[in-house]
Amino acid sequence: MTSTVLVTGGAGFIGSHTCVELLSHGHEVVVVDDFSNSSPGAVEAVHKLAGRPVQLHRADLRDRAALAEVFRAHRFDAVIHFAAKKAVGESTRIPLTYFDINIGGTTALLHAMNEHGVRRLVFSSSCSVYGETSTVPLDEDSPAAPTNPYARSKYLCEQLLADACAYDPGLSVIALRYFNPIGAHPSGEIGEDPAGVPNNVLPYMAQVAVGRLPELPVYGDDYPTPDGTGVRDYIHVVDVADGHRVALDHLDDETGLRVFNLGTGTGASVLTLLAEFSRAAGRPIPYRVEPRRAGDVATLIADPRRVERAWGWRTTRDLAAMCEDAWRFQRLHPAGYAG
Ligand code: NAD
Ligand code: WQD
Repeated sequence: MTSTVLVTGGAGFIGSHTCVELLSHGHEVVVVDDFSNSSPGAVEAVHKLAGRPVQLHRADLRDRAALAEVFRAHRFDAVIHFAAKKAVGESTRIPLTYFDINIGGTTALLHAMNEHGVRRLVFSSSCSVYGETSTVPLDEDSPAAPTNPYARSKYLCEQLLADACAYDPGLSVIALRYFNPIGAHPSGEIGEDPAGVPNNVLPYMAQVAVGRLPELPVYGDDYPTPDGTGVRDYIHVVDVADGHRVALDHLDDETGLRVFNLGTGTGASVLTLLAEFSRAAGRPIPYRVEPRRAGDVATLIADPRRVERAWGWRTTRDLAAMCEDAWRFQRLHPAGYAG
């Protein structure tokens, strides 16, 4: 079923890939983004790739008047809410800004949805809500124990969404807890283009491969993992985007809040990822082992079975595809969308 979907943060990494997925499946897409961590170039690239336009509103989600305009201008069947700040380290330095944007943005959105009778929402949550854990793989019933303001903001949003559902029994919300999204659209035309020095490992190694950074710091090689480096459940961003498209089709299955992991169920270490990326890029990638990064855990792997049982959906792209596609974007756009 096609519909008109509001995508907040649609110019960002995951949002832009989701817009392509939605447009190519016949949905109408309206994006609200303030470009605080993205550029209009991403929306132009989405338009080109999908061959259909995105309707774009440049606005901060917390600007109630601007958001009301957007809701008056369109009749939304559903909302996908990506807009948020996402850097763990930064969130420990400016926690109030994180709560303001991530929680304030979500409540402003819920108000606007309520005022305009929109009752179907897919929310970007994160594996970071699980916090430090000794049990892997992690299923959705694993206790939440966020360890930093970013993760706490995501968990608080899940809780306020549960409260909103209790208050409005017609509301249907799906929170997707992504593990580590990486990669890019296979065309190489959209991808991850973080502002400043990347926090995450894949964009960092991609910028080393293209010569923008000298070497990858590997944060710790003394973890209790097969090669001593951290193990994560990397998931292709196009699989994440596809998961959102499929989630839209399941919003009407039931009302209330439902939580699903989006991961592959397989882990890769930093050195395994580095070897795979180096193969994709056809060049060695210099690295240096450094001390562990504060707040990191040894291993995080999803148990992806709940979403598979509920929707018959699973990821289809492997680590090689993630690295090849990420490299294609980096090679074609060495300086990101600006270059
Ligand atoms: P991103 O920064 O690339 O995208 C977020 C987008 O939201 C950006 O385009 C930014 O300009 C916009 N934005 C931020 N604040 C806004 C505001 N107040 N009003 C309007 N627009 C605003 O990040 P991403 O990696 O695409 O992440 C998307 C969502 O997924 C976020 O909610 C993030 O917390 C969540 N998430 C990301 C990851 C990951 O590793 N990338 C993992 C789990 C969850
Ligand atoms: C992965 C591995 C690092 C950088 C973060 C958020 C999480 C979610 C996904 C939003 C770890 C190592 C990293 C580097 C390295 N995002 N590393 N050198 O920390 O698993 O998860 O993104 O919700 O909430 O915390 O991802 O890519 O930063 O790190 O060695 O330069 O790579 O130690 O083992 P992380 P990451």
